[in-house]
Amino acid sequence: MSALDVTRVQADFPILQREVNGQRLVYLDSASSSQKPVQVLDAMERCYRESYANVHRGVYTIAEEATAAFEASRAKVAKLLHAPSTSEIVFTKNVTEAINLVAHSWGRANLRAGDVVVLTEMEHHANVVPWHMLANEIGIEIRWIPLTADHRLDLTDLDRLLDGARLLGVTAVSNVLGTINDVEALVSAAHAAGALALIDAAQAVPHRTVDVTAWDADFVGFTGHKMLGPSGIGGLWARAELLEAMPPFLGGGEMIRDVTTTGFTTNDVPWKFEAGTPPIVEAVGLGAAVDYLDALGLPAISAHERSLTEYALDALDQRFGDRLTIYGPADLDVRAGVLSFLFEGIHAHDVSQVVDEAGVCVRAGHHCAKPLMRSLGVPATTRASFYVYNDEADVDALVEALASAEKFFGI
Ligand SMILES: Cc1ncc(COP(=O)(O)O)c(C=O)c1O
Repeated sequence: MSALDVTRVQADFPILQREVNGQRLVYLDSASSSQKPVQVLDAMERCYRESYANVHRGVYTIAEEATAAFEASRAKVAKLLHAPSTSEIVFTKNVTEAINLVAHSWGRANLRAGDVVVLTEMEHHANVVPWHMLANEIGIEIRWIPLTADHRLDLTDLDRLLDGARLLGVTAVSNVLGTINDVEALVSAAHAAGALALIDAAQAVPHRTVDVTAWDADFVGFTGHKMLGPSGIGGLWARAELLEAMPPFLGGGEMIRDVTTTGFTTNDVPWKFEAGTPPIVEAVGLGAAVDYLDALGLPAISAHERSLTEYALDALDQRFGDRLTIYGPADLDVRAGVLSFLFEGIHAHDVSQVVDEAGVCVRAGHHCAKPLMRSLGVPATTRASFYVYNDEADVDALVEALASAEKFFGI
């Protein structure tokens, strides 16, 4: 595995050349959305300029080119996820839509009042609210896997929680704590209890090798804009037999085979779940992002983020000690490059605003994980997150900016 050449990577990201408030842009919010390399921007522009047409409709040359490019991206995503078949990749708008697809299609067709779905206290709202909606609609029961003191999943009661469950929904990596969950073990426990397993891989696919076959999962959702691709595209991988059996989610366009005045029949998977004109150019951009990730190598990306996380944890501890609470596991083997923290006595939003003056972009808020915030007993945290274009100078800039914030608020 060759190490990441971060200087070369940075040169691929045009936005990193700009200044903010007279300062170098230090982008530490990739867990929210990543920046885009010129390779992705060029691929999308080329598509619009040279071979743009709607897909799966026209028989003329550029329509066939557009369709081939769109489907080639699906194949690249399938390969990235180690999916057994390209037709198991359904393009959606984002991971939120992917999970909603599972809840609305599989959930409505298979769950009845009293059926149990097990979630964890570290889920993003995207993997909570669709299940609350089903609870309201058909009366499913939701059970929650709690957290340990070091912000991992507390699996002490897992067997009892999974007893009689139909589905386990779990994030592969927490977008707040950085906790890396043992997906294989969780899927295996779910299957042993007779439940299916849905993995929210939004924070995993961009940063580490994801192998849906090794995971043995049933549903895996991901989102393009966090993995160097454009916004507006994400996807769902699901086992072919599940997709075959599931009813369509949205109606119209590519999802039909035939329509009469009295009804319709559906297309094959994955198109059965892709109603209307899909995000064509976004898919092409996502394909270019997958190529870019492939060229860097996901093991090299994870190793880079791990060393940056270690450097940041040390630097923050040395500079601020107990004045700064950092959430998430201390063990780097189970912690991704996501650092949520709180200064005693300073609101997370105020910290984020002050560091922006130094060109440092960090996110503040509940990070769409309010059950987790409640479990941590805080309304919000400030969060810095790392990706391929970040380096130790970015961490140093964060530490200096946080020191200024501390001084500004007189702590
Ligand atoms: C773990 C996790 N799940 C789901 C989402 C939702 O992503 P999207 O808005 O792209 O659907 C996010 C984004 O913050 C996330 O981090």
